[in-house]
Amino acid sequence: MENFIFHNPTKLIFGKDQLEHLREEVPKYGKKVLLVYGGGSIKRSGLYQNVTGILEEIGSQVFELPGVEPNPRITTARKGVEICKQEGIEFLLAVGGGSVIDCTKLIAAGTKYDGDPWDIVIKKATVIEALPFGTVLTLAATGSEMNSGSVITNWETNEKYGWGSPATFPKFSILDPVNTFTVPKDQTIYGIIDMMSHTLEHYLHVEDNTEYQDRMAESLLLTVMETAPKLLNDLENYDYRATILYCGTMALNGIINMGFKGDWATHNLEHAVSAVYDIPHGGGLAILFPNVMKHNLHVKPERFKKLAVRVFGVNPEGKTAEEAGLEGIQKLREFWNSIGAPSRLADYHIDDSKLDLMADRAMENGEFGNFAKLNREDCLEIYRASL
Ligand code: NZQ
Ligand code: ZN
Repeated sequence: MENFIFHNPTKLIFGKDQLEHLREEVPKYGKKVLLVYGGGSIKRSGLYQNVTGILEEIGSQVFELPGVEPNPRITTARKGVEICKQEGIEFLLAVGGGSVIDCTKLIAAGTKYDGDPWDIVIKKATVIEALPFGTVLTLAATGSEMNSGSVITNWETNEKYGWGSPATFPKFSILDPVNTFTVPKDQTIYGIIDMMSHTLEHYLHVEDNTEYQDRMAESLLLTVMETAPKLLNDLENYDYRATILYCGTMALNGIINMGFKGDWATHNLEHAVSAVYDIPHGGGLAILFPNVMKHNLHVKPERFKKLAVRVFGVNPEGKTAEEAGLEGIQKLREFWNSIGAPSRLADYHIDDSKLDLMADRAMENGEFGNFAKLNREDCLEIYRASL
């Protein structure tokens, strides 16, 4: 286990009817509030009316930035920064999924920066401070509600990068499972894949003596795999939604990965695909992850065997670690197929015509991956295997 410092300052407010907490939380940070949301799901569900009703009652002066795209774009974050600077916004409230929250994080940091917010995304500028912000989460997937990361796309240059700063943890996040009832089946599946992928990225590390961390990750995967099929047959079941919502947060809030560095190669490869083709993040991960695992199986076969035996019920008797590990990877593929996830780039009509561009984007900062370093040829091999 490596040395570590854990510090997560986000206040998590979880459960039914918790929106009321906006009444005490928002006024702590100021009167002028920018409400950030997506393409309209919160208006259709009634959440928008509930949030604005409370903000009105507590006397907030509300400005709005609607229309944050899935795979949020730098152009929208720039608009938000402009509003904040012009109107002297004191607090941001993100109501939506990971995209809305990620965009809000960049607006919060960009408002305290003099240049173009894209500088922050490409790490040309270091974030010193950010406006305070809170979130009302509507989709279980990214963990953005309780981490400091943000992923932003520049559609003009086909670039999509993650960035983060200690200044961009949400002050609070309200997680009411009821607010996720309206998430359609496909987005629910993508969210399930995303949280499982975060857990798998953590699991693929080269550190020794991480028994407790391993078991936390295994427990998260088992819980999601047990709950997902039931939820997908019963989308408005409170208990199933609550379990998945909690798992999504726990998969990427820093708790299950203390003391080692996860791999994160698959995320880098996926961001490169969705920068070029604008596909859903979870869909891209479902296609790529098993192929990355197969590609890296030889690096530490024991690690894959452990996962296969403990999570996928593989019987290791008479098998090498590689054989057992491969069986586990196949079972992961089968599970994702069984819940309706895409398995090939062709499912998004992606052919081999832009593999070079995707590999260039993935390689933007050179070789990557903490489990095994991937180079350009590795990227191409994995993309080809995913066609
Ligand atoms: O825009 P609206 O109308 O709200 O619709 C959204 C959007 O179309 C819809 N939706 C959200 N909540 C809903 C709902 N529809 C009905 N009812 C609800 N309650 O779902 C669609 C997808 O939303 P989005 O926010 O894009 O999904 P997600 O939460 O999966 O976020 C994906 C983005 O997060 C990034 C991804 O790369 C991608 O850009 N990630 C962020 C991370 C982080 N900050 O830590 C880590 C992740 O690995 C990931 O890379
Ligand atoms: Zn992810």
